[in-house]
Amino acid sequence: MENFWLFSLVIVFVFSKTCEAQSRSFLINCGTNSSVTVSGRKWVGDSSPNNNITLSSSGIPASTDVKSVDDSTYGELYKTARMFESSLNYTFQGVRGDYFVRLHFSPFSFDDYNVNVSSFGVVANGLKLVEKFEVPGELLHKNAYLQGSGSNSTSSIVKEYVLAINRDALVIEFIPDRETFGFINAIEIVPAVDELFAGSASKVGGNGANVNVSWQGIETMYRLNVGGSVVSPSQDSDLWRKWEMDTSYMITANAGVEIKNSSNITYSSVNDSSLAPLVVYESARTMSNNEVLEKRFNMSWKFEVDPGFDYLIRLHFCELVFDKANQRIFRVYINNRTAADNYNVFVRAGGMNKAYHQDFFDVVSSKVKTLWIQLGPDTNVGAAGTDALLNGLEIFKISRNGNLAYVDNYESSANSSKASSKNAILWGAIGAGVATVAILATLIFCFCKCRREKSSDTKTNPPGWRPLFLVNSTVNAKGSAGSKNQYGSVASTRAGKRFLLPEIRAATNNFDESLVIGVGGFGKVYKGEIEDGTLVAIKRSNPQSQQGLAEFETEIEMLSKLRHRHLVSLIGFCDEQNEMILVYEYMANGTLRSHLFGSELPPLTWKQRVEACIGAARGLHYLHTGADRGVIHRDVKTTNILLDENFVAKMSDFGLSKTGPALDHTHVSTAVKGSFGYLDPEYFRRQQLTEKSDVYSFGVVLFEAVCSRPVINPTLPKDQINLAEWAMRWQRQRSLETIIDPRLEGNYCPESLKKFGDIAEKCLADEGKSRPTMGEVLWHLEYVLQLHEAWIRKTAGENSFTSSQGFGGLAVDEAEEREGTSFDEETSFSRESTSRGLDESTTEGRKS
Ligand SMILES: *[C@@H]1O[C@H](CO)[C@@H](O)[C@H](O)[C@H]1NC(C)=O
Ligand SMILES: *[C@@H]1O[C@H](CO)[C@@H](O)[C@H](O)[C@H]1NC(C)=O
Ligand SMILES: *[C@@H]1O[C@H](CO)[C@@H](O)[C@H](O)[C@H]1NC(C)=O
Ligand SMILES: *[C@@H]1O[C@H](CO)[C@@H](O)[C@H](O)[C@H]1NC(C)=O
Ligand SMILES: *[C@@H]1O[C@H](CO)[C@@H](O)[C@H](O)[C@H]1NC(C)=O
Ligand SMILES: *[C@@H]1O[C@H](CO)[C@@H](O)[C@H](O)[C@H]1NC(C)=O
Ligand SMILES: *[C@@H]1O[C@H](CO)[C@@H](O)[C@H](O)[C@H]1NC(C)=O
Ligand SMILES: *[C@@H]1O[C@H](CO)[C@@H](O)[C@H](O)[C@H]1NC(C)=O
Ligand SMILES: *[C@@H]1O[C@H](CO)[C@@H](O)[C@H](O)[C@H]1NC(C)=O
Ligand SMILES: *[C@@H]1O[C@H](CO)[C@@H](O)[C@H](O)[C@H]1NC(C)=O
Ligand SMILES: *[C@@H]1O[C@H](CO)[C@@H](O)[C@H](O)[C@H]1NC(C)=O
Ligand SMILES: *[C@@H]1O[C@H](CO)[C@@H](O)[C@H](O)[C@H]1NC(C)=O
Repeated sequence: MENFWLFSLVIVFVFSKTCEAQSRSFLINCGTNSSVTVSGRKWVGDSSPNNNITLSSSGIPASTDVKSVDDSTYGELYKTARMFESSLNYTFQGVRGDYFVRLHFSPFSFDDYNVNVSSFGVVANGLKLVEKFEVPGELLHKNAYLQGSGSNSTSSIVKEYVLAINRDALVIEFIPDRETFGFINAIEIVPAVDELFAGSASKVGGNGANVNVSWQGIETMYRLNVGGSVVSPSQDSDLWRKWEMDTSYMITANAGVEIKNSSNITYSSVNDSSLAPLVVYESARTMSNNEVLEKRFNMSWKFEVDPGFDYLIRLHFCELVFDKANQRIFRVYINNRTAADNYNVFVRAGGMNKAYHQDFFDVVSSKVKTLWIQLGPDTNVGAAGTDALLNGLEIFKISRNGNLAYVDNYESSANSSKASSKNAILWGAIGAGVATVAILATLIFCFCKCRREKSSDTKTNPPGWRPLFLVNSTVNAKGSAGSKNQYGSVASTRAGKRFLLPEIRAATNNFDESLVIGVGGFGKVYKGEIEDGTLVAIKRSNPQSQQGLAEFETEIEMLSKLRHRHLVSLIGFCDEQNEMILVYEYMANGTLRSHLFGSELPPLTWKQRVEACIGAARGLHYLHTGADRGVIHRDVKTTNILLDENFVAKMSDFGLSKTGPALDHTHVSTAVKGSFGYLDPEYFRRQQLTEKSDVYSFGVVLFEAVCSRPVINPTLPKDQINLAEWAMRWQRQRSLETIIDPRLEGNYCPESLKKFGDIAEKCLADEGKSRPTMGEVLWHLEYVLQLHEAWIRKTAGENSFTSSQGFGGLAVDEAEEREGTSFDEETSFSRESTSRGLDESTTEGRKS
């Protein structure tokens, strides 16, 4: 009987505790007395009666008719806001303990209140959360999380904090800066479970020492579902956190591959169950499993953080593949220091499929604005178990002296346009970056997809909006706020000027034969000079050529959409009087082939060859992944790789290009076209074109760069006629050096040649699906270059001259002689952008 009472008591206790927890959340729709329901949660108007909230003044209730593109999520909530010209307090009664506080800002202009001049601070129970929060500036310059800028859409940022509330009320104070105003759209207060920040963290650089982090407030800077897709707030139990994708923060996305397994995952400790939902552990990123290289690299993520704060870095792990210990051992680096070594998830978590996390603590100095997280091989462990794994990642900023706010001084309006263009590149490259005051966006991805087209429409912005720098850097199919499509508006302004025939005649001295720099099946290419003095290459198609017209149109269509530093850019065209003329940037150094063999030109050094291949690989990688639809070049060969005056390689000749397969198709069926000797045998057999056909042809180019001979040479003995077959025989015997261009003898790093051969061999794999992607190829080629450069430095040290300089000098003379010009394209191509968006499924489009 006694037991029965005890039992009931426990039930009652548990029950009341749950009730209490629920009543303590506040979901507030600011600036209105009406409630809205958003993804199953009811947001109560801040001025509705009996809502247990006290407002110190009514401020200015504001509303907008601008409708959200995405009504299913927060659109309705963001239609109202409370604006304030003087300090405004929200007091929430009956809260004590740890709480998530999320502030939703979705700026719109109202009456005379122009959001671009708002500026304010927020203080919660004495803890300064934000200072000088200038939303439009934040959004326009820094915040890649902006939800959109079309007139009929909302944009928002959500800032998330965890506050330790040690009295019975929470007072959130909104304080406008002088002569400005502030606003708030919604406030979300959700109890956080006590275990969330209870454990101790391992101090980076502290030789395994643990610290108990004490805090008054914490700001969530980043929360990522590594290797997986976005986890929306509604998928995250009662805490309503949002988990973003990690790709846009990776330095080289190819360094990691995504793995998934949702079977039977459990928490390694019962107390962990609220740290992250299981779905986060179901996907992971492991080190790229590529046999081309040993795993001598790191998977690296880079984050913008506020300098001068302490950070708690929480890594989530779950071994999904190996059911034995010691299969995967790695090192964790935070800001380039070892945070953990000999890291064995299986052992630490207590088995396979066990969700496990570890916290690290690091201090970021006042001079550093980035935080690097790297996972890589542990040099003390044999190569066998070398692999790393990461399932999730969170970065929390810890309050210091009652402050969480950070003001970046660069917000000077005089320099703002400059800052914005600078940042367009910077932040574009970083992807979804977050600056100064950390920004946690809870919503982006729901919006982005449908926003894609609309977002470029800047004319119809509501007053107060300036065009967004990321206008065209939309989100790729996997949702990362991408960086690569910056050509958008450039293309539309520069896309093919239509030249008049007399202009072309003037430029080429009436098609003077002495200006011919190339001849092909299509017709002739002339060197010309257009009115403004720009040197150009003018390709005039042979009017007799029947197939020409289609290819002419393809090329204009392709090139006007594609802009990239490693693609020859189209300046214009002329289609008068049955002429089919294309005007390109002039490539002073002609084709790659002419520098490899069959001409009097001095041979390229090994470094120049590798660099040319890297350039071409970048161009191709961009074609495959960077455009709206993946583009397959179809005619990759050394005569279509052109070199500018600085020997920067660019892909040219898109006459045969096809847009890539639609999402649900893995190939494009098409009649076989291309150049003999470079043709993908699989494409030939099955007449199905994929991006891997370009990879095959590129592999042949790589061998051509090593051997300096034509891909088909019928005068040679039968077994040597075809370069691909011949070189592959030597490569398989690991003796490519036997057939290397003798002019390179002694002037290349043998190890780099070995890697180079390995890459070429992979590219020539019989089946497309076993070939690497261009992104992987590119990445490995960069490694080859590093090896060679290291070797050059070493040999230069031993022997004060390097032969590469000798060759380089000659080449420069040559370049000056053939003086040319090129366009400095907007697409800044950094390693970051190279590696982003490697998802092959981004290709969508039509069939041939
Ligand atoms: C909400 O406010 C409007 C006008 O501001 C008023 O007409 C309406 O009655 C209010 N509704 C409630 C439930 O108080
Ligand atoms: C206000 O608080 C009381 C008791 O604490 C609770 O019964 C009521 O539901 C709350 N009202 C709202 C709108 O949450
Ligand atoms: C807001 O709250 C703070 C702290 O409780 C207080 O100092 C301040 O006077 C309040 N402001 C207004 C306008 O009530
Ligand atoms: C915005 O929405 C309104 C009403 O929904 C519609 O009349 C208007 O045409 C839309 N504007 C644009 C630019 O889509
Ligand atoms: C951290 O806290 C635990 C228990 O609260 C305590 O045992 C331990 O000594 C503390 N460690 C440090 C470094 O303060
Ligand atoms: C997922 O893991 C289970 C073991 O937990 C394994 O049996 C299954 O094959 C794995 N599935 C995949 C797709 O790897
Ligand atoms: C799931 O995990 C539990 C506990 O680890 C284990 O007992 C059970 O056999 C597993 N089920 C499957 C299908 O692997
Ligand atoms: C879970 O947390 C409780 C209380 O914080 C503690 O007593 C218990 O040992 C923890 N369990 C594990 C497995 O860590
Ligand atoms: C991985 O990163 C750490 C820290 O930046 C660096 O010290 C280490 O050399 C890197 N490892 C490799 C293999 O690049
Ligand atoms: C950390 O290493 C990366 C490359 O691995 C480098 O770019 C970065 O500058 C380093 N950071 C610091 C603080 O040394
Ligand atoms: C703008 O930037 C330049 C250099 O970046 C600096 O010299 C100048 O003082 C800045 N002007 C303002 C108003 O901050
Ligand atoms: C704010 O927007 C208005 C137009 O809506 C514009 O005239 C003004 O220059 C903008 N102010 C700033 C500081 O950008």
